[in-house]
Amino acid sequence: MRNIVVIGCGQGIGLAAARILSENNHVTGISRSHHPELDKLNIEFVQMDILTGNLDEITFPEVIDGLVYAPGSINLRPFKRLTEDDFKKDFEINVLGAVKCIQKLLPHLKKSEHASIVLFSSVAAKLGMPFHASVSASKSAVEGLTKSLAAELSAEKIRVNAIAPSLTDTKLASQLLSTPEKRDASGKRHPLQRVGNAVEMAKLTEFLLSADSSWITGQIIGIDGGLGSIKL
Ligand SMILES: NC(=O)c1ccc[n+]([C@@H]2O[C@H](COP(=O)([O-])OP(=O)(O)OC[C@H]3O[C@@H](n4cnc5c(N)ncnc54)[C@H](OP(=O)(O)O)[C@@H]3O)[C@@H](O)[C@H]2O)c1
Repeated sequence: MRNIVVIGCGQGIGLAAARILSENNHVTGISRSHHPELDKLNIEFVQMDILTGNLDEITFPEVIDGLVYAPGSINLRPFKRLTEDDFKKDFEINVLGAVKCIQKLLPHLKKSEHASIVLFSSVAAKLGMPFHASVSASKSAVEGLTKSLAAELSAEKIRVNAIAPSLTDTKLASQLLSTPEKRDASGKRHPLQRVGNAVEMAKLTEFLLSADSSWITGQIIGIDGGLGSIKL
């Protein structure tokens, strides 16, 4: 049984990943708020804000085979209304939170023979869209982190990949999908005519943690209904 740590397991993609991964793995889940479903899953849950909390207070398994970092942001505003603080906050949750977790868990990941780290970017890092300046800057940094860490950790056989979703039906995206009209319009912006769901992101996460992806590292994999690559 592999030991997996899922950060941000309280909602959305992280919760869906914890649900799937806990069927066959030992999962330690960390998240800011507690979702009632977590009590029904076979996971060790720790309630903690990853930016302010002290990871030294958590007893992790000696060997960790997988790390998923799912917290993130969708802070969409015209550039003139984005403050420096917005950019800092987005960088903190998307990049520095991941850096903190990876640095803390690296000694444990190095003890695994097949460790894998999964981070989350966004289609907005690849495709320029209005109002996405802050999230795009942070997610582009996540992609840089993914590739440089994949190189640096390859000697330790630790793989690092990122998933880049487009709009996915989770709490994070709830304001953008709050009416049937908004949902319909958002779906139509995608070549495949719909938004994504947390389960399809979680299944790719599971694959990237598994031995089936053992020759995949340093990749940014889009699940975006074609938005990042296709123009109709
Ligand atoms: N949903 C989309 O449309 C979309 C699109 C592109 C990229 N992404 C990326 O995909 C990833 C997952 O997104 P999602 O939609 O599943 O997000 P979500 O619904 O907000 O779920 C994220 C989880 O992380 C937790 N979290 C946030 N900040 C935290 C912190 N400081 N400490 C501990 N836990 C924290 C949240 O806790 P709370 O429950 O307390 O908020 C929540 O449980 C993110 O990186 C996001 O940027 C999502």
